[in-house]
Amino acid sequence: MTKLSRRRALTKGMASGTIAALRLTPALAADTARPALPVPSEIRPNAQGVIAFDARAATARFLPGQSTATYGYNAAFLGPALRLRRGQGVTIYFTNRLPEPTTVHWHGLIIPGNVDGGPHQAIAPGGRWHVLLPIDQQAATLWFHPHFYPTTAAQVIKGLAGLLIIDDDDTDRLALPSRWGIDDIPLVIQDRRFRRDGQFFERMNIIAVTSGYVGTVPLVNGAHYPEARTARGWLRVRLLNGSNARSYLLKASDDRSLYVIGSDGGLLESPVEMQQIVMHAGERFEVMVDCRSGTPFDLVALPAGAPIMRLPPFDGPVPLVTIRPDRGDGPGQLPASLAKLPPLPAVLPAVSQDLVMNMFRDQAGMMPLMKAGLMAMAKSGKSDPAVIARVTQLIKEDPELSRAAQLSANGVNGKPFALGEVGFTARRGELLRWRISEGGDQMLHPVHIHGCQFRILSERGQKPEAYRAGWKDIAPISAGGVSEILVRFPHPARADAPYMAHCHILEHEDSGMMAQFTVA
Ligand code: C2O
Ligand code: CU
Ligand code: CU
Repeated sequence: MTKLSRRRALTKGMASGTIAALRLTPALAADTARPALPVPSEIRPNAQGVIAFDARAATARFLPGQSTATYGYNAAFLGPALRLRRGQGVTIYFTNRLPEPTTVHWHGLIIPGNVDGGPHQAIAPGGRWHVLLPIDQQAATLWFHPHFYPTTAAQVIKGLAGLLIIDDDDTDRLALPSRWGIDDIPLVIQDRRFRRDGQFFERMNIIAVTSGYVGTVPLVNGAHYPEARTARGWLRVRLLNGSNARSYLLKASDDRSLYVIGSDGGLLESPVEMQQIVMHAGERFEVMVDCRSGTPFDLVALPAGAPIMRLPPFDGPVPLVTIRPDRGDGPGQLPASLAKLPPLPAVLPAVSQDLVMNMFRDQAGMMPLMKAGLMAMAKSGKSDPAVIARVTQLIKEDPELSRAAQLSANGVNGKPFALGEVGFTARRGELLRWRISEGGDQMLHPVHIHGCQFRILSERGQKPEAYRAGWKDIAPISAGGVSEILVRFPHPARADAPYMAHCHILEHEDSGMMAQFTVA
């Protein structure tokens, strides 16, 4: 790729649906140019306060010589970054140009249930959805994605996801790096598996509804192992784990520090210097990285999660994206203090709600993996091609579940999700303490709650790590542990448009691990 076209890709990026081609083998990568990091275009409300966009079917090129059927928002794959300001109302005109119903959910936005875009706000093919979103929360990196029950996982795999960025005056005053795609770099991290014919693999079988989607190709902003040409200086990197199920343990290839400045719902009080950070499905972190020396580095994913998530290539360090800071110098600085967070009350309210994640088909999903030798292989620490082949075959070929079997595989508080049934009611405007746990299984569940940003009080009886102690909308539970959160719902959610509380492993969500609640 020439310098010019690379730069064009960097600035135009996803707006034009540019997807850099995938390099499949290192040998091939060596004699061809690396794809430039696609940068999503920014959309701000027009003079009337309107943002119009659509969801559409398209094709994109991820594999050499093969085109893949995709979905995207105003693009062939993924979508633009919607940029909204605190204190502003924005009117969204959304058109569904897909051949199937969808919804648009604003993940992390604190808004009333009737504009939240949950499963009750379905938009038919060809249909439009007009909503007014009141923006009143601190600057944050949020995202939007479909929430149609029960095909969210499939729609996200095809490409439906976009960033939603809130700006505010306090954050502007910090003078963080703010040149989009130059020293303010959005990175949407996902994993995909491709079929032999180049199409995205997707199958709701017992393996998927228990273990979640297991991809083999990491994509960053829709490109495989792209390279970002950035400013030299401090970089602000906005990370979204937009994967259906996979967690990532991220670090810089040269072990330089990642200074975490923000979590799901906005800035932390002060930067937290980390060597590695964990990101679960749906989570966002903003990190500052010192690139003043101009030395390039890779963002790398280390093996993490259940044995099935450590199949090749995720059995070793996987480079996700190269940051090459060789453009002009950037002026950004790392501030010592960032934002004021309200102190946690000395006396906590009593627990008013339990959310128990249930897996009713846990055994049925784990037995075949056990028989294939996956757990034994994980214990031995040595990879065995025969085991990997057997497990891969289960992932790919185990038959699709019937719809009824899919929808009843998982649950919350003892019951699979039922669209017509509201599980409970939360009190509006009050500080509430909720307890999130899992039933018999030991799996990781990144639990997400609509209509709020909360604080994690404890995880398995311990205080959360400092970089996870700020505003969050996802609380992970794992290994039979319990998490407690402190939450407040400022807006109402009526029975005809309730909020969702669910596991953000989308295959769990689509198979019953979701509850709905009203706020009054
Ligand atoms: Cu990101 Cu209920 O979803
Ligand atoms: Cu959400
Ligand atoms: Cu789950």
